[in-house]
Amino acid sequence: MKPTFISEIAHHLDKRTIVRGWVYNKRFSGKIGFLQIRDGTGFIQGVVVQKDIPEAMWELANKITLESSAIIEGTVTKHPRNDVYELQVSNIKLVQMAEEYPIGKKEHGPDFLLDNRHLWLRSSKQWAIQRIRNTIINATYEHLNSTGFIKIDSPILTPAACEGTTTLFELEYFDLGKAYLSQSGQLYIEAAIMSHGRVFDFGPVFRAEKSKTRRHLTEFWMMDAEAAFVEHDENLKIQENLVSFIVESVLKKNQAELKILERDIKPLEKIKAPFYRMTHAEAVAKLHKLGSDIKEDDDLGGDDETLIMQDLDKPLFVEKYPAKVKAFYMKRDPANPELALCADLLAPEGFGEIIGGSQREDDYNVLLNRIKEHNLPVKAFDWYLDLRKYGSVPHSGFGYGLERLTGWICGTPHIRETIPFPRLINRLYP
Ligand code: 4AD
Ligand code: MG
Repeated sequence: MKPTFISEIAHHLDKRTIVRGWVYNKRFSGKIGFLQIRDGTGFIQGVVVQKDIPEAMWELANKITLESSAIIEGTVTKHPRNDVYELQVSNIKLVQMAEEYPIGKKEHGPDFLLDNRHLWLRSSKQWAIQRIRNTIINATYEHLNSTGFIKIDSPILTPAACEGTTTLFELEYFDLGKAYLSQSGQLYIEAAIMSHGRVFDFGPVFRAEKSKTRRHLTEFWMMDAEAAFVEHDENLKIQENLVSFIVESVLKKNQAELKILERDIKPLEKIKAPFYRMTHAEAVAKLHKLGSDIKEDDDLGGDDETLIMQDLDKPLFVEKYPAKVKAFYMKRDPANPELALCADLLAPEGFGEIIGGSQREDDYNVLLNRIKEHNLPVKAFDWYLDLRKYGSVPHSGFGYGLERLTGWICGTPHIRETIPFPRLINRLYP
Protein backbone atom coordinates (compact mmCIF):
# COMPACT_ATOMS: atom_id res chain seq x y z
CA MET A 1 0.00 0.00 0.00
CA LYS A 2 1.26 3.48 -0.88
CA PRO A 3 1.58 5.95 1.98
CA THR A 4 -0.64 9.05 2.04
CA PHE A 5 0.15 12.58 3.14
CA ILE A 6 -2.23 13.76 5.85
CA SER A 7 -3.05 16.80 3.71
CA GLU A 8 -4.51 14.35 1.14
CA ILE A 9 -6.37 12.19 3.63
CA ALA A 10 -9.84 13.37 2.57
CA HIS A 11 -9.40 11.48 -0.72
CA HIS A 12 -9.09 8.23 1.22
CA LEU A 13 -12.29 8.33 3.24
CA ASP A 14 -13.42 4.82 4.26
CA LYS A 15 -10.26 3.30 2.77
CA ARG A 16 -7.25 1.77 4.38
CA THR A 17 -4.13 3.83 4.11
CA ILE A 18 -0.69 4.41 5.58
CA VAL A 19 0.56 7.57 7.25
CA ARG A 20 4.24 8.10 8.05
CA GLY A 21 5.13 10.54 10.76
CA TRP A 22 5.63 11.35 14.41
CA VAL A 23 3.49 10.96 17.52
CA TYR A 24 3.18 14.47 18.92
CA ASN A 25 0.69 13.70 21.65
CA LYS A 26 -1.29 10.79 23.07
CA ARG A 27 -4.07 10.02 25.49
CA PHE A 28 -5.30 6.66 26.73
CA SER A 29 -8.42 5.84 28.71
CA GLY A 30 -9.25 2.25 29.46
CA LYS A 31 -9.42 0.13 26.35
CA ILE A 32 -9.11 3.00 23.86
CA GLY A 33 -6.24 5.29 23.01
CA PHE A 34 -5.67 8.36 20.83
CA LEU A 35 -2.37 9.03 19.09
CA GLN A 36 -1.94 12.50 17.64
CA ILE A 37 0.10 12.07 14.51
CA ARG A 38 1.78 14.71 12.36
CA ASP A 39 3.60 14.11 9.10
CA GLY A 40 4.70 17.62 8.08
CA THR A 41 1.67 18.18 5.85
CA GLY A 42 -0.88 18.15 8.65
CA PHE A 43 -2.23 16.51 11.77
CA ILE A 44 -4.54 13.55 12.34
CA GLN A 45 -5.81 11.59 15.32
CA GLY A 46 -5.20 7.85 15.28
CA VAL A 47 -7.75 5.86 17.26
CA VAL A 48 -6.42 2.64 18.83
CA VAL A 49 -8.95 0.12 20.19
CA GLN A 50 -7.61 -2.74 22.31
CA LYS A 51 -9.99 -5.38 21.07
CA ASP A 52 -9.29 -4.61 17.39
CA ILE A 53 -5.52 -5.09 17.39
CA PRO A 54 -3.04 -7.71 18.59
CA GLU A 55 -1.98 -7.43 22.24
CA ALA A 56 1.65 -6.59 21.33
CA MET A 57 0.52 -3.66 19.22
CA TRP A 58 -1.75 -2.38 21.98
CA GLU A 59 1.24 -2.48 24.33
CA LEU A 60 3.38 -0.62 21.79
CA ALA A 61 0.73 2.07 21.41
CA ASN A 62 0.60 2.42 25.19
CA LYS A 63 4.31 2.85 25.64
CA ILE A 64 5.15 4.82 22.49
CA THR A 65 6.84 8.05 23.55
CA LEU A 66 6.24 11.58 22.25
CA GLU A 67 8.05 12.34 19.00
CA SER A 68 8.61 8.66 18.23
CA SER A 69 8.53 8.04 14.50
CA ALA A 70 6.16 5.44 13.13
CA ILE A 71 4.38 4.11 10.08
CA ILE A 72 0.73 3.79 10.92
CA GLU A 73 -1.89 1.92 8.97
CA GLY A 74 -5.60 2.35 9.38
CA THR A 75 -8.96 3.15 7.89
CA VAL A 76 -9.85 6.80 7.32
CA THR A 77 -13.11 7.86 8.95
CA LYS A 78 -14.82 11.17 9.52
CA HIS A 79 -15.66 12.13 13.08
CA PRO A 80 -19.45 12.33 13.18
CA ARG A 81 -19.58 15.51 15.28
CA ASN A 82 -16.89 17.85 14.06
CA ASP A 83 -16.21 16.76 10.48
CA VAL A 84 -12.60 15.94 11.28
CA TYR A 85 -10.80 12.98 9.72
CA GLU A 86 -9.46 10.21 11.93
CA LEU A 87 -7.48 7.05 11.38
CA GLN A 88 -8.86 3.82 12.92
CA VAL A 89 -5.48 2.24 13.55
CA SER A 90 -4.90 -1.38 12.52
CA ASN A 91 -1.13 -1.50 12.50
CA ILE A 92 1.76 0.46 13.99
CA LYS A 93 5.28 -0.02 12.74
CA LEU A 94 7.74 1.75 14.98
CA VAL A 95 10.60 3.48 13.16
CA GLN A 96 12.26 4.80 16.29
CA MET A 97 11.20 4.98 19.93
CA ALA A 98 12.15 8.54 20.91
CA GLU A 99 14.03 9.36 24.07
CA GLU A 100 12.17 11.52 26.58
CA TYR A 101 11.34 14.66 24.62
CA PRO A 102 12.64 17.84 26.24
CA ILE A 103 9.87 20.12 24.98
CA GLY A 104 6.77 19.28 26.96
CA LYS A 105 3.40 20.71 27.63
CA LYS A 106 4.57 23.03 30.40
CA GLU A 107 5.58 26.59 29.59
CA HIS A 108 9.20 26.96 28.56
CA GLY A 109 11.13 30.24 28.56
CA PRO A 110 12.37 31.67 25.25
CA ASP A 111 16.01 30.81 25.98
CA PHE A 112 15.20 27.16 26.54
CA LEU A 113 13.14 27.04 23.36
CA LEU A 114 15.84 28.80 21.33
CA ASP A 115 18.52 26.44 22.70
CA ASN A 116 16.29 23.65 21.43
CA ARG A 117 15.36 25.36 18.19
CA HIS A 118 16.19 22.21 16.20
CA LEU A 119 13.34 20.48 18.06
CA TRP A 120 11.10 23.49 18.68
CA LEU A 121 10.66 23.77 14.89
CA ARG A 122 8.31 20.75 15.16
CA SER A 123 5.82 22.53 17.45
CA SER A 124 2.57 23.37 15.72
CA LYS A 125 2.96 27.17 15.89
CA GLN A 126 6.51 27.00 14.60
CA TRP A 127 5.34 24.66 11.88
CA ALA A 128 2.60 27.12 10.90
CA ILE A 129 4.99 30.09 10.78
CA GLN A 130 7.40 28.30 8.42
CA ARG A 131 4.54 27.26 6.15
CA ILE A 132 3.39 30.87 5.90
CA ARG A 133 6.96 32.02 5.29
CA ASN A 134 7.06 29.55 2.41
CA THR A 135 3.86 30.99 0.94
CA ILE A 136 5.30 34.51 1.19
CA ILE A 137 8.43 33.43 -0.69
CA ASN A 138 6.44 31.71 -3.43
CA ALA A 139 3.95 34.56 -3.75
CA THR A 140 6.85 36.96 -4.19
CA TYR A 141 8.31 34.94 -7.06
CA GLU A 142 4.87 34.50 -8.61
CA HIS A 143 3.89 38.16 -8.47
CA LEU A 144 7.25 39.57 -9.55
CA ASN A 145 7.68 37.06 -12.38
CA SER A 146 4.20 37.88 -13.66
CA THR A 147 4.93 41.63 -13.64
CA GLY A 148 8.12 41.48 -15.67
CA PHE A 149 10.79 40.96 -12.99
CA ILE A 150 13.35 38.19 -13.30
CA LYS A 151 15.29 36.73 -10.40
CA ILE A 152 18.98 37.43 -10.49
CA ASP A 153 21.36 36.57 -7.67
CA SER A 154 23.66 39.04 -5.97
CA PRO A 155 26.90 38.13 -4.19
CA ILE A 156 27.27 37.72 -0.43
CA LEU A 157 31.01 38.47 -0.25
CA THR A 158 31.50 42.10 -1.22
CA PRO A 159 34.29 44.68 -1.24
CA ALA A 160 32.28 47.52 0.35
CA ALA A 161 29.23 48.57 2.37
CA CYS A 162 25.75 49.08 0.97
CA GLU A 163 23.86 50.32 4.02
CA GLY A 164 26.35 52.15 6.23
CA THR A 165 29.68 51.04 7.60
CA THR A 166 28.66 50.65 11.25
CA THR A 167 26.83 47.36 10.69
CA LEU A 168 29.32 45.52 8.48
CA PHE A 169 30.60 42.03 9.21
CA GLU A 170 34.15 41.85 7.92
CA LEU A 171 36.57 39.04 7.25
CA GLU A 172 40.07 38.55 5.86
CA TYR A 173 39.97 37.72 2.18
CA PHE A 174 43.19 36.02 1.06
CA ASP A 175 45.62 38.55 -0.46
CA LEU A 176 42.90 41.08 -1.23
CA GLY A 177 42.48 42.49 2.25
CA LYS A 178 39.04 42.83 3.77
CA ALA A 179 35.78 41.43 2.47
CA TYR A 180 32.35 42.22 3.90
CA LEU A 181 29.16 40.18 4.15
CA SER A 182 26.43 41.77 2.05
CA GLN A 183 23.88 43.97 3.83
CA SER A 184 21.65 44.05 0.72
CA GLY A 185 22.09 43.01 -2.90
CA GLN A 186 20.69 46.31 -4.12
CA LEU A 187 23.81 47.78 -5.70
CA TYR A 188 24.40 44.64 -7.73
CA ILE A 189 20.85 44.37 -8.98
CA GLU A 190 21.12 48.00 -10.10
CA ALA A 191 23.75 46.70 -12.52
CA ALA A 192 21.42 43.88 -13.58
CA ILE A 193 18.53 46.18 -14.54
CA MET A 194 20.71 47.67 -17.25
CA SER A 195 20.68 44.17 -18.73
CA HIS A 196 17.16 42.97 -17.83
CA GLY A 197 15.03 46.03 -17.01
CA ARG A 198 13.34 44.64 -13.91
CA VAL A 199 14.99 42.21 -11.53
CA PHE A 200 14.92 40.96 -7.97
CA ASP A 201 17.19 38.98 -5.70
CA PHE A 202 16.34 36.97 -2.62
CA GLY A 203 18.86 35.76 -0.14
CA PRO A 204 20.53 36.05 3.22
CA VAL A 205 22.00 39.40 4.26
CA PHE A 206 23.98 40.35 7.32
CA ARG A 207 23.97 43.24 9.76
CA ALA A 208 26.44 43.48 12.59
CA GLU A 209 23.89 45.58 14.36
CA LYS A 210 24.25 45.89 18.13
CA SER A 211 20.44 46.16 18.34
CA LYS A 212 18.79 43.70 20.69
CA THR A 213 15.20 44.35 19.69
CA ARG A 214 12.37 42.09 18.62
CA ARG A 215 12.85 43.41 15.06
CA HIS A 216 16.56 42.77 14.57
CA LEU A 217 18.50 39.73 13.47
CA THR A 218 22.16 39.66 12.45
CA GLU A 219 21.37 37.32 9.55
CA PHE A 220 18.06 37.63 7.75
CA TRP A 221 16.55 37.17 4.31
CA MET A 222 16.00 40.11 2.05
CA MET A 223 14.21 40.43 -1.24
CA ASP A 224 15.52 43.40 -3.21
CA ALA A 225 13.66 44.50 -6.33
CA GLU A 226 14.90 47.09 -8.81
CA ALA A 227 13.39 48.55 -11.98
CA ALA A 228 14.71 50.76 -14.79
CA PHE A 229 12.68 53.81 -15.84
CA VAL A 230 10.65 53.63 -12.62
CA GLU A 231 10.49 56.75 -10.48
CA HIS A 232 9.48 57.31 -6.87
CA ASP A 233 5.67 57.14 -7.18
CA GLU A 234 5.62 54.06 -9.37
CA ASN A 235 8.07 52.41 -6.98
CA LEU A 236 5.48 52.68 -4.20
CA LYS A 237 2.77 51.23 -6.42
CA ILE A 238 4.91 48.20 -7.21
CA GLN A 239 5.42 47.66 -3.46
CA GLU A 240 1.80 47.96 -2.42
CA ASN A 241 0.69 45.61 -5.19
CA LEU A 242 3.30 43.06 -4.15
CA VAL A 243 2.42 43.22 -0.45
CA SER A 244 -1.32 43.00 -1.21
CA PHE A 245 -0.72 39.95 -3.39
CA ILE A 246 1.39 38.28 -0.70
CA VAL A 247 -1.24 38.80 2.02
CA GLU A 248 -3.99 37.60 -0.31
CA SER A 249 -1.97 34.44 -1.08
CA VAL A 250 -1.49 33.65 2.61
CA LEU A 251 -5.21 34.15 3.24
CA LYS A 252 -5.96 31.80 0.36
CA LYS A 253 -3.46 29.07 1.19
CA ASN A 254 -2.83 29.14 4.93
CA GLN A 255 -6.16 29.33 6.76
CA ALA A 256 -5.26 26.27 8.86
CA GLU A 257 -1.90 27.76 9.81
CA LEU A 258 -3.40 31.15 10.69
CA LYS A 259 -5.85 29.34 12.94
CA ILE A 260 -3.08 27.45 14.73
CA LEU A 261 -1.39 30.82 15.30
CA GLU A 262 -4.69 32.26 16.59
CA ARG A 263 -4.13 35.09 14.12
CA ASP A 264 -7.07 37.47 13.83
CA ILE A 265 -7.44 37.58 10.05
CA LYS A 266 -9.77 40.59 9.89
CA PRO A 267 -6.88 43.07 9.81
CA LEU A 268 -5.22 41.04 7.04
CA GLU A 269 -8.37 41.05 4.95
CA LYS A 270 -8.13 44.85 4.80
CA ILE A 271 -4.66 44.82 3.24
CA LYS A 272 -5.44 46.02 -0.27
CA ALA A 273 -3.67 48.64 -2.38
CA PRO A 274 -3.53 51.62 -2.27
CA PHE A 275 -1.80 51.98 1.11
CA TYR A 276 -1.56 55.21 3.10
CA ARG A 277 1.10 57.81 2.33
CA MET A 278 2.58 60.51 4.53
CA THR A 279 5.75 62.55 4.24
CA HIS A 280 8.37 62.29 6.98
CA ALA A 281 7.51 65.89 7.99
CA GLU A 282 3.82 64.97 8.33
CA ALA A 283 4.78 61.85 10.26
CA VAL A 284 6.87 63.91 12.71
CA ALA A 285 3.96 66.33 13.20
CA LYS A 286 1.59 63.44 13.89
CA LEU A 287 4.08 61.86 16.29
CA HIS A 288 4.44 65.12 18.21
CA LYS A 289 0.67 65.19 18.67
CA LEU A 290 0.87 61.63 19.98
CA GLY A 291 3.50 62.62 22.53
CA SER A 292 6.76 61.55 20.83
CA ASP A 293 9.84 63.77 21.23
CA ILE A 294 11.21 62.90 17.77
CA LYS A 295 13.18 65.78 16.18
CA GLU A 296 12.44 67.21 12.72
CA ASP A 297 15.36 65.44 11.10
CA ASP A 298 15.43 62.20 13.10
CA ASP A 299 14.88 58.79 11.60
CA LEU A 300 11.80 57.10 13.06
CA GLY A 301 12.63 54.77 15.94
CA GLY A 302 10.85 51.49 16.61
CA ASP A 303 8.53 53.11 19.16
CA ASP A 304 7.66 55.92 16.75
CA GLU A 305 6.76 53.36 14.10
CA THR A 306 4.43 51.58 16.49
CA LEU A 307 2.88 54.84 17.67
CA ILE A 308 2.20 56.26 14.21
CA MET A 309 0.46 53.08 13.08
CA GLN A 310 -1.85 52.73 16.07
CA ASP A 311 -4.91 54.16 14.31
CA LEU A 312 -4.15 52.84 10.79
CA ASP A 313 -5.66 49.68 9.35
CA LYS A 314 -3.39 49.47 6.30
CA PRO A 315 0.36 49.85 5.79
CA LEU A 316 1.77 53.37 5.59
CA PHE A 317 4.51 54.72 3.33
CA VAL A 318 6.53 57.35 5.13
CA GLU A 319 8.10 59.27 2.26
CA LYS A 320 10.89 61.79 1.82
CA TYR A 321 13.05 61.42 4.90
CA PRO A 322 15.79 63.95 5.55
CA ALA A 323 18.54 62.78 3.17
CA LYS A 324 21.16 62.87 5.93
CA VAL A 325 19.58 59.97 7.84
CA LYS A 326 19.37 57.79 4.74
CA ALA A 327 21.83 55.92 2.50
CA PHE A 328 24.25 57.56 0.06
CA TYR A 329 22.64 56.15 -3.11
CA MET A 330 19.23 57.79 -2.70
CA LYS A 331 18.19 60.45 -5.18
CA ARG A 332 17.25 63.82 -3.69
CA ASP A 333 13.83 65.37 -4.07
CA PRO A 334 14.12 68.00 -6.84
CA ALA A 335 11.60 70.14 -4.92
CA ASN A 336 13.77 70.08 -1.78
CA PRO A 337 17.31 68.68 -2.03
CA GLU A 338 17.47 68.21 1.76
CA LEU A 339 15.02 65.33 1.34
CA ALA A 340 15.52 61.87 -0.18
CA LEU A 341 13.12 60.41 -2.75
CA CYS A 342 12.57 57.43 -0.51
CA ALA A 343 9.91 55.65 1.48
CA ASP A 344 9.77 53.15 4.31
CA LEU A 345 6.70 50.96 4.40
CA LEU A 346 5.34 50.48 7.92
CA ALA A 347 3.00 47.60 8.76
CA PRO A 348 -0.03 48.06 11.00
CA GLU A 349 -0.72 46.43 14.38
CA GLY A 350 2.53 47.68 15.82
CA PHE A 351 4.85 45.80 13.46
CA GLY A 352 6.69 48.77 11.98
CA GLU A 353 9.07 48.91 9.01
CA ILE A 354 8.88 46.00 6.60
CA ILE A 355 10.29 47.66 3.45
CA GLY A 356 12.92 50.29 2.73
CA GLY A 357 13.21 51.73 -0.77
CA SER A 358 14.01 54.75 -2.90
CA GLN A 359 14.68 56.22 -6.28
CA ARG A 360 18.45 55.99 -6.91
CA GLU A 361 20.86 58.78 -7.75
CA ASP A 362 21.52 58.35 -11.47
CA ASP A 363 23.96 61.24 -12.11
CA TYR A 364 27.64 60.35 -12.12
CA ASN A 365 29.02 63.51 -10.51
CA VAL A 366 26.34 63.83 -7.86
CA LEU A 367 26.80 60.19 -6.87
CA LEU A 368 30.60 60.52 -6.80
CA ASN A 369 30.29 63.46 -4.40
CA ARG A 370 27.86 61.54 -2.19
CA ILE A 371 30.26 58.62 -1.93
CA LYS A 372 33.00 61.04 -0.89
CA GLU A 373 30.73 62.86 1.58
CA HIS A 374 29.93 59.53 3.22
CA ASN A 375 33.66 58.74 3.47
CA LEU A 376 33.20 55.58 1.42
CA PRO A 377 36.13 54.15 -0.57
CA VAL A 378 35.58 55.48 -4.11
CA LYS A 379 37.73 52.73 -5.65
CA ALA A 380 35.39 49.99 -4.37
CA PHE A 381 32.47 51.81 -6.01
CA ASP A 382 34.06 52.35 -9.44
CA TRP A 383 31.85 49.69 -10.98
CA TYR A 384 28.73 51.20 -9.38
CA LEU A 385 29.67 54.64 -10.70
CA ASP A 386 30.21 53.10 -14.16
CA LEU A 387 26.47 52.38 -14.29
CA ARG A 388 26.00 56.18 -14.38
CA LYS A 389 28.33 56.48 -17.39
CA TYR A 390 26.89 53.99 -19.85
CA GLY A 391 23.23 54.64 -20.50
CA SER A 392 22.18 55.83 -17.05
CA VAL A 393 18.41 55.91 -16.53
CA PRO A 394 16.10 56.95 -13.72
CA HIS A 395 15.50 53.87 -11.60
CA SER A 396 14.12 52.81 -8.25
CA GLY A 397 13.87 49.81 -6.01
CA PHE A 398 13.15 48.50 -2.58
CA GLY A 399 13.96 45.66 -0.21
CA TYR A 400 11.76 43.77 2.20
CA GLY A 401 12.87 41.85 5.25
CA LEU A 402 11.30 38.40 4.98
CA GLU A 403 11.23 37.89 8.74
CA ARG A 404 9.57 41.26 9.39
CA LEU A 405 6.94 40.50 6.76
CA THR A 406 6.38 36.99 8.12
CA GLY A 407 6.19 38.30 11.70
CA TRP A 408 3.51 40.80 10.78
CA ILE A 409 1.41 38.39 8.73
CA CYS A 410 1.66 35.66 11.39
CA GLY A 411 1.09 38.12 14.23
CA THR A 412 4.38 37.03 15.83
CA PRO A 413 5.89 40.05 17.58
CA HIS A 414 9.46 38.73 17.90
CA ILE A 415 10.95 38.00 14.48
CA ARG A 416 13.40 35.42 15.88
CA GLU A 417 10.55 32.89 15.57
CA THR A 418 10.08 33.55 11.88
CA ILE A 419 13.48 32.29 10.68
CA PRO A 420 14.35 28.61 11.11
CA PHE A 421 17.65 29.24 12.92
CA PRO A 422 17.84 32.80 14.25
CA ARG A 423 21.17 34.59 14.53
CA LEU A 424 21.18 37.27 17.20
CA ILE A 425 24.08 39.14 18.75
CA ASN A 426 23.97 36.71 21.68
CA ARG A 427 22.96 33.57 19.77
CA LEU A 428 24.78 31.44 17.20
CA TYR A 429 23.55 28.00 18.38
CA PRO A 430 22.08 25.71 17.13
O1 4AD B 1 15.84 49.43 5.11
P1 4AD B 1 16.98 48.56 4.70
O2 4AD B 1 18.26 48.69 5.44
O3 4AD B 1 17.17 48.83 3.15
C1 4AD B 1 18.11 48.28 2.34
O4 4AD B 1 18.94 47.47 2.68
C2 4AD B 1 17.97 48.64 0.90
N1 4AD B 1 19.27 48.45 0.22
C3 4AD B 1 16.91 47.81 0.25
C4 4AD B 1 16.67 48.19 -1.18
O5 4AD B 1 16.33 49.32 -1.46
N2 4AD B 1 16.86 47.26 -2.09
O6 4AD B 1 16.52 47.03 4.80
C5 4AD B 1 15.40 46.58 4.09
C6 4AD B 1 14.47 45.81 5.01
C7 4AD B 1 13.91 46.62 6.17
O7 4AD B 1 12.79 47.36 5.78
C8 4AD B 1 13.55 45.53 7.15
O8 4AD B 1 12.33 44.93 6.78
C9 4AD B 1 14.65 44.53 6.93
O9 4AD B 1 15.19 44.75 5.65
N3 4AD B 1 15.71 44.64 7.93
C10 4AD B 1 15.94 43.77 8.92
N4 4AD B 1 15.29 42.64 9.26
C11 4AD B 1 15.76 41.95 10.32
N5 4AD B 1 16.85 42.30 11.03
C12 4AD B 1 17.53 43.44 10.73
N6 4AD B 1 18.63 43.76 11.43
C13 4AD B 1 17.07 44.22 9.63
N7 4AD B 1 17.51 45.35 9.04
C14 4AD B 1 16.68 45.59 8.02
MG1 MG C 1 15.30 50.80 6.58
